[in-house]
Amino acid sequence: MTIAPPYWLLAELTYRCPLHCAFCYNPLDHAAIRDELDTAGWVRVMREARAMGAVQLGFSGGEPLARDDLEELVAEAHRLGFYTNLITSGVGLTEPRIAALKAAGLDHIQLSFQDSTREMNDFLSSTKTFELKKKVAALIRKYDYPMVMNCVLHRHNLAHVDKIIEMALELEAEYLELANTQYYGWAKLNQHQLMPTLSQVREAEQVVQRYREKIGKRCKLLFVVPDYYEDRPKACMNGWGAVFLAVAPDGAALPCHNARSLPGVELPNVKDASLEWIWRDSPAFNLFRGDDWMQEPCRSCPEKAIDFGGCRCQAAMLAGDARAADPVCSKSPQRGRVDAIIFQAALKAPMDAGTQPILFRTDANSRALAAP
Ligand code: FES
Repeated sequence: MTIAPPYWLLAELTYRCPLHCAFCYNPLDHAAIRDELDTAGWVRVMREARAMGAVQLGFSGGEPLARDDLEELVAEAHRLGFYTNLITSGVGLTEPRIAALKAAGLDHIQLSFQDSTREMNDFLSSTKTFELKKKVAALIRKYDYPMVMNCVLHRHNLAHVDKIIEMALELEAEYLELANTQYYGWAKLNQHQLMPTLSQVREAEQVVQRYREKIGKRCKLLFVVPDYYEDRPKACMNGWGAVFLAVAPDGAALPCHNARSLPGVELPNVKDASLEWIWRDSPAFNLFRGDDWMQEPCRSCPEKAIDFGGCRCQAAMLAGDARAADPVCSKSPQRGRVDAIIFQAALKAPMDAGTQPILFRTDANSRALAAP
């Protein structure tokens, strides 16, 4: 089988983060992972990825601005010819730093908000960051970046989607990604609190459609429906080991954001092997490449070239088998497990999340969860 080079390198520079979002996809044991690659280590990763043909480079985390060498890494990425994107909460993006990042050649900034209201933004991130994010949005405009905003949606803010769009328009956003929560990492842990009802999702979708008609090209609105409410799975990562390569703060190479918690996968590390070997030859990156690994109903499904059997991590979490069809698919014998979660969500009123409290993504909670 021909293996194309990775198209997109995601550099998860650090798991340190000043925010504590309840829907974070980072691993639950992030607090134990502090042996971050140094500057030289990241430079080597970027050079090897570029030599293989990677063209897009995302800097994420955690909060990538927590790294003092971010400007240096951006400058090297720019010199190598990557198109660079900073995925940030905005915390730490002061004027001297954005000026330095601009000078280093950073192409693009994606700023996340949690909600249109200070109360919900600050509650969901367990920080007081709403006003700061608005100031950062103004800086992004001042330094002539396109204003690209992201807001993760769930039970507690779907009803505010009109206000979130209004806020984006007020901040002169050119692009707003309204991404419903994907249930991995901390989001899976808090699913009982975050899972919306079907009517919440459909109403929000209609609001977004009305705004699209009203505002035309002024701001592009992307609404990502939660896959639990679809009957076909998402083409996760565009296929395993097909285009996406992430490197975690400690150098672990990941074929998907959640691979760290996928049972039975031994992740290669850039400290021990070349990126070329990791991408082409490592067992982890070949585990679900192509379709030889598939079982029925995926193996004989005419749609397998479109969705690649869905998400391996979701199959592992919900069906207990990473090789199974993604249970989101209506052809999966395990679809009932997704329907049971939807049914539980439907039993609650939209703002009622039940009695089990939200567990925020804090170092203390991470350590408590990792304790034997
Ligand atoms: Fe791991 Fe989808 S998140 S394959």
